[in-house]
Amino acid sequence: MSSPENQAGRLCPIDYRYRPEDIAAAPTLPDLQGLDALWVVGGLYGNREALDAVLIAYSADPSPRKALVFNGDFHWFDADSGWFADIQAEVDRHWATRGNVETELARQGVGAAGCGCAYPDDVSDDTVQCSNRIIERLHAVVPKDVRPRLAALPRFLRAEVGGVGVGIVHGDAHSLAGWRFSHEALQDEVARNAARLACDAAAVRIFASSHTCMPVVSDLGAGHWVINNGAAGMPNALGALHGLCTRIATTAPTGATQCRHDGALYLSLQTVNYSVTQWWQRFEGCWPPGSDAFRSYSDRLRFGPNARTC
Ligand SMILES: [Fe+2]
Repeated sequence: MSSPENQAGRLCPIDYRYRPEDIAAAPTLPDLQGLDALWVVGGLYGNREALDAVLIAYSADPSPRKALVFNGDFHWFDADSGWFADIQAEVDRHWATRGNVETELARQGVGAAGCGCAYPDDVSDDTVQCSNRIIERLHAVVPKDVRPRLAALPRFLRAEVGGVGVGIVHGDAHSLAGWRFSHEALQDEVARNAARLACDAAAVRIFASSHTCMPVVSDLGAGHWVINNGAAGMPNALGALHGLCTRIATTAPTGATQCRHDGALYLSLQTVNYSVTQWWQRFEGCWPPGSDAFRSYSDRLRFGPNARTC
């Protein structure tokens, strides 16, 4: 249990919250209608090399009508003005939703939510405090004109792939930083039933999420799914040093580590094969040994996850 002074980073701010019915009421943007393939990239975390890999894989997708959405936390390690601007410029060329990182960066100063991760109690205070200090450092490099643009990003989007409604969120059906779509939560049948009801309330059959940093493709029954890509910009399994992103499409994927076919659509986790060496040089140049990000993330970046960090 965290001490009261460590609530920053564990709080779920009121403005993070929404209802599945709000998602049902949102329009599906014309660019996200009638898709053959939807790519959803969550948790890029400023990994420029992973961004390059995602864009190469996406451009190679032969689907005639496709779209790419960054569903939040595309910034995080990019605590350098030029690096940050580079990531932002590429995200601006596509559709995007806000993650907790962008939501906190959009504020005038670092707020009571800290990093906005809404970490559960089983994440250590030390990890939470490191994340709060990372957001402080990142906050200092955000150009003034970018803050309102981040604030204007939606918290969720609707898409339609092969006639099927997809809800694109950062966290879950109720909160931008919700953990109901985590790998751990979806092991429980009660949680899967609740997620299916949330799909119905949101008028979608599939939720594409991220935030929890660990991937899962969960069959909720009756053609309903949650697909959580884990992280595009960090390893997602021990010894597998690549990121993952989500593809939902009417055609079978190439380059997938996991694929489920529900009769109408293929839901896959696509490998994001970035240059680990180049990425590590970039990361360590900004976050040397002893820095907060190095302390919290260097093991995951070099070896893969063995504990919950995000
Ligand atoms: Fe997040």
